[in-house]
Amino acid sequence: MANNLILYYSRTGENYWNGGIKDIAKGNTEIAAEYIQKAVGGDLFQVETVQDYPKDYYSCIDVAKQELRAQARPALKRSLDTISQYDNIFVCGPCWWGTFPMAMFTQLEQLDFTGKHVFPLMTHEGSGLGSCERDLKKVCKGAVIGKGLAVHGADAAKSESAVAAWARKCI
Ligand SMILES: Cc1cc2nc3c(=O)[nH]c(=O)nc-3n(C[C@H](O)[C@H](O)[C@H](O)COP(=O)(O)O)c2cc1C
Repeated sequence: MANNLILYYSRTGENYWNGGIKDIAKGNTEIAAEYIQKAVGGDLFQVETVQDYPKDYYSCIDVAKQELRAQARPALKRSLDTISQYDNIFVCGPCWWGTFPMAMFTQLEQLDFTGKHVFPLMTHEGSGLGSCERDLKKVCKGAVIGKGLAVHGADAAKSESAVAAWARKCI
């Protein structure tokens, strides 16, 4: 059986939610990442930054915008240094200004993707997959990037069947 890694970033706190602001206790991407694991098995790994992002939504989007502009690589609490034991890597994260949070790139740039199959999942409030497939192609050198799945963040809890069907098709 193929070995799967489900790498994800997800943030709790205030977020944009169907046109309003909602304080969420569990991140949307975390919900979707767990659905992948339930459907196809594999190891979950959460990318977490040393420095927390503001809980306040508007402060957070400002910080994220500055990080994107600067192409920052925020320090991580812990990171994976190898993915040699995996065949398939699901890269899951929220859409932050059209791509994954910069912290995901901190992690991805540390890994050797030669011969791997990479599948992006992005949760969002309207931007779909943004540029994430293109961005992964640049950073995951030597990997084949499969078709991604966009999940509307506010509907993450209702996305199990769509996520499971996609994940099963990927591997
Ligand atoms: C900093 C920040 C930037 C965001 N930028 C976008 C965006 O460009 N497009 C979009 O559709 N949603 C955007 N969103 C909404 C999130 O992508 C969406 O709520 C996502 O499901 C959050 O996932 P999480 O709970 O796993 O962190 C943004 C949210 C934050 C906090």
